[in-house]
Amino acid sequence: MAVQPFIHKRCAPPCLSDSPLRAIYRMTQIEVAAAISKPPPRVAHSQQFIQPSTDRLIPMSPSSSEQQPYLFTETQDWFSFNTDTWRGLFQHVSSPEPRVLEIGCWEGRSAVFLLTELCKAGGEIVCIDHFDLMNTAAGRERHRKLTHNLTLTGKPFRVLAEFSVPALMTLLVEEMARAQPGFDWVYVDGSHEADDTFLDGELAWRLARKSAVMIFDDYHWDKEPEDSVHHPKRGIDAFLALHKDEYTLLSSETQYQVVLQKTVDMRIGFLVSEKVGSRGELESALGYGVNVALTVDADYAIAAAVAIRSAALHTTARITFYIVSRSLPDEVKEKLKCSVPTGSSATVVFVELPEDGVPVPREVTWTKIAMLPYLPVERVLYLDADVLVRADLKELWDTDLQGKAIAAAMDVGYPSGHDGVNRSPYFNAGVLLIDLAAARKKLDSLVTLAADMSGSKLKDQDALNVHFADDWLPLDLAWNAQGLGTYAAHCTPERAALKLDGMSTDPKVVHFTGPLHPSMADVLNPFVQPYGGKPWGYAGAPGHPFGEEWWAVCEDTPWKGWRSSGEYRELRARKVEEAIQAGAMTFRQRLAEALEA
Ligand SMILES: C[S@@+](CC[C@H](N)C(=O)[O-])C[C@H]1O[C@@H](n2cnc3c(N)ncnc32)[C@H](O)[C@@H]1O
Repeated sequence: MAVQPFIHKRCAPPCLSDSPLRAIYRMTQIEVAAAISKPPPRVAHSQQFIQPSTDRLIPMSPSSSEQQPYLFTETQDWFSFNTDTWRGLFQHVSSPEPRVLEIGCWEGRSAVFLLTELCKAGGEIVCIDHFDLMNTAAGRERHRKLTHNLTLTGKPFRVLAEFSVPALMTLLVEEMARAQPGFDWVYVDGSHEADDTFLDGELAWRLARKSAVMIFDDYHWDKEPEDSVHHPKRGIDAFLALHKDEYTLLSSETQYQVVLQKTVDMRIGFLVSEKVGSRGELESALGYGVNVALTVDADYAIAAAVAIRSAALHTTARITFYIVSRSLPDEVKEKLKCSVPTGSSATVVFVELPEDGVPVPREVTWTKIAMLPYLPVERVLYLDADVLVRADLKELWDTDLQGKAIAAAMDVGYPSGHDGVNRSPYFNAGVLLIDLAAARKKLDSLVTLAADMSGSKLKDQDALNVHFADDWLPLDLAWNAQGLGTYAAHCTPERAALKLDGMSTDPKVVHFTGPLHPSMADVLNPFVQPYGGKPWGYAGAPGHPFGEEWWAVCEDTPWKGWRSSGEYRELRARKVEEAIQAGAMTFRQRLAEALEA
């Protein structure tokens, strides 16, 4: 159902007192005398819900002046013209027992309406108003009328006789302890100061459940210029800008009230010490997320998109992806950004390495060393771009490094190293949890080693194994499942010692090890059949049990349709031809060398 246009307020509310002092200035001599002579009355119902007994239930009949039981000041009606529009908004509230929060309730016209109509079948209201902190006769009178009026509804209510900010803070602390925290309907109608309105909106937003309806009054109040800091519009606009992706707007710019429906989960955003239940709760309140780094060049952009998307899909914690590159084209960057699933809180940050940065060999595989001083964090989970994430990375992120600089999984291809780096155990560098502060301490010696080992068989992986020989923690192989469907299935005495079963059946991170575009020798190698390869290479990843899962994720990235595209067909044909040419050349060279010998 379409929302009815709002009727503009016929008369604006009077300049309401925002501080007890200002209120006192506006009082008559008699009121001041009365206020000073009388001690502030106890606020009988300010801290608890009132559950009126049934014999006090009085049917609401506001139209009949004879039976009119409510104490409303006739000339101070800033609400009644909203009733039809608000009734039209009730359809957005799904809770059978709506919880309502109102900031600024005066004598309770809107509160009574909400209790008797929105909460007809159940629900409750919390009203916040300062009542001039009961130092004024007028404030005390408003409080009396309000509690009288709310009591007459027969519905549960609670009045917090405070300024809105401390009252909302109290509620935030209390709501932490509730099994089902939050409110379904929030009405912000308190102070007109822009900053107060902004703060009211902010704090109330944290108290608003997902799908809650939130209404700001006085968007076009006519007592002050709309661009003034003394006008609510400035505060409301700031609030709307800050939360722009978190609500559906149900009103239009010209309407007197701004109406939103919240589309994101409720987040209280802080904890008090006695409410710390679990480590997870604390971390979520602290807002710390998982930092993931990927090193990307044009050949690996599509793979990085799949890695990013699969990681964001499976990880509950917030992730920041640091994409480390040299001169990655802007269109590729844009596509990588768009690979994050819609609605995910994950963000993508591009880290461009300077030309005169860490002097390691130029190939992209060495970038994982070159990036170490440039990542703007202290801990990072490095992932090779050729991975498919299938589990929540938070679990891996939470690994206690036990004082080691890095954590890594054993290399399935060479568990004991190889001729170039003959040592055991030997790790795979495709998934590395790195304590950057620790790793940076010895960066100079790592860089020197990298230069010395630039020609080593497995390049950066060899250098990292030598450098971190006694400084790495072994990870479960499920976090870096290598060679699946190919060499991992070939049992060797070294591999027999590895626990490959868990890795094969339900890997958490699948690593498509093997060349992007295999050589002729790779394809013809009788000992590794089917041969290894990357899903997006010319040969695909034949025999790999997770190849199709990789393509399924790829279909949801900006590279959707790539597999059946003419561009990919042409690339494959070109790479096959290159493999044949290179293979034939190697064959001729070897033959010539053999004949010469
Ligand atoms: C326009 S009236 C509310 C009218 C009410 N919602 C209704 O529909 O009848 C605004 C109220 O906000 C209260 N108010 C103003 N500044 C406030 C603040 N900082 N904290 C709490 N209440 C405040 C005033 O005391 C006043 O009762």
